[in-house]
Amino acid sequence: MMSSDEADDVLPREEEMLKTKKDKYKVIALLGKGGYGAVYSVLRQSDSEKFAIKCEKATAAKKVLLMDCNVMKGATQIKSRHFCAVLDRANVKDRFNFIVMKLIGKNLWDLRQDRPDGRFSLGTALKTAAQCLVSIEHLHSVRLDIRISTKSPSIFQFGYLHRDIKPGNFAAGRKESNEHHTIFMLDFGLCREFVKRAEGKDMRAPRSSAPFRGTTRYAPLAAMLQQDQSRKDDIESWLYMVVEWTSGGLPWRKLKAHDRDKVLAYKKDVREKADILEDFLYNCPKKEFTRILKYVDTLGYYAVPDYGFIYYCVKHAAVANKIKDNDPIDWDPERPYFGPLETPGDGKVIDLEVEGGQSVKEFSKRNPKEKDQSDETRKGKKKAGASPNREKTEVKEVKK
Ligand SMILES: Nc1ncnc2c1ncn2[C@@H]1O[C@H](COP(=O)(O)OP(=O)(O)OP(=O)(O)O)[C@@H](O)[C@H]1O
Ligand SMILES: [Mg+2]
Repeated sequence: MMSSDEADDVLPREEEMLKTKKDKYKVIALLGKGGYGAVYSVLRQSDSEKFAIKCEKATAAKKVLLMDCNVMKGATQIKSRHFCAVLDRANVKDRFNFIVMKLIGKNLWDLRQDRPDGRFSLGTALKTAAQCLVSIEHLHSVRLDIRISTKSPSIFQFGYLHRDIKPGNFAAGRKESNEHHTIFMLDFGLCREFVKRAEGKDMRAPRSSAPFRGTTRYAPLAAMLQQDQSRKDDIESWLYMVVEWTSGGLPWRKLKAHDRDKVLAYKKDVREKADILEDFLYNCPKKEFTRILKYVDTLGYYAVPDYGFIYYCVKHAAVANKIKDNDPIDWDPERPYFGPLETPGDGKVIDLEVEGGQSVKEFSKRNPKEKDQSDETRKGKKKAGASPNREKTEVKEVKK
């Protein structure tokens, strides 16, 4: 059997030249390594512009690069500023497939590691939280665009669940392109369309059980209970991430993927035990974050989250703590913040229908019986292309 290092031999080497039909790209440096392959910075030979490539080994058991590519292309069509454009793709026979995309800066895991106290200032956490929330709303927004050409009708459809919301899957833009105050969403390998493709307007009914997808630390209760995920679950993971940024660490930070049951118990305790909730929300705006947690817990599978309400809670926390819109963010302390200040809408463009004939609106009523959860990370030293202690996406079921 090949060791993982041997298996990595198929991945690009520094200085290697990669060809596509459109151009040639010289590999500069490794930016990140994940479960399915690796990401590198490259130099486009035709104009010396820098880009990123994401590679997936030809032998990868589960191919996810196509999903990455489809989601990013869809995001370009809805004109969201929070996604990287994909410009090119190709494969190197028997070694790897790759896509060429916009190059951005450090991910939010690494940016937090750069902080001397291991957490973001409240202003940075809230500004970043608001941008990530908007990007999630964009990913969830259902857009249908049916084009009838003379040959065949083509349907463009957008509306995905991310299912792996975590700090390593968001990054700031590059300073060189003056985009370092904008947050980009990354890594769509675990995405799932929640609308039935054939009709384009019905929501898929939940499966009776679904294999675990995501990262234990940030996984929503539904994922941990092997239930099918829905829009509320991305928001639940978002909240764990935002709490981690603000507090510097979640109560279950020391538990690893194989301790999934213990992490699940912790996440339930956050809901049921006042002292665990207190610990969870250490250093956080308690009133507003508790409100968000309780709200997300009321949502059912079919609910359209009220992104505007969640945004309102974030904004309320900022105002209550005298944080101004132009206060600098931690990774650019000298300049006033100039990142986007978008306000979320209602998260949908068309009215979805649910299998069985009920409309989404009927399902959107809050159901106080349903629940949710969160997760965290710790500081450590950095190595090129590998973030220490960053929680890895779990591709397969963890063996007990
Ligand atoms: N377009 C890009 N520009 C700059 N850096 C990027 C880009 N895309 C990804 N990265 C970096 O590479 C890391 C891994 O990327 P991504 O999450 O897409 O891959 P992955 O293989 O699915 O990783 P994991 O399994 O760790 O989630 C990111 O955390 C980020 O730091
Ligand atoms: Mg990732």
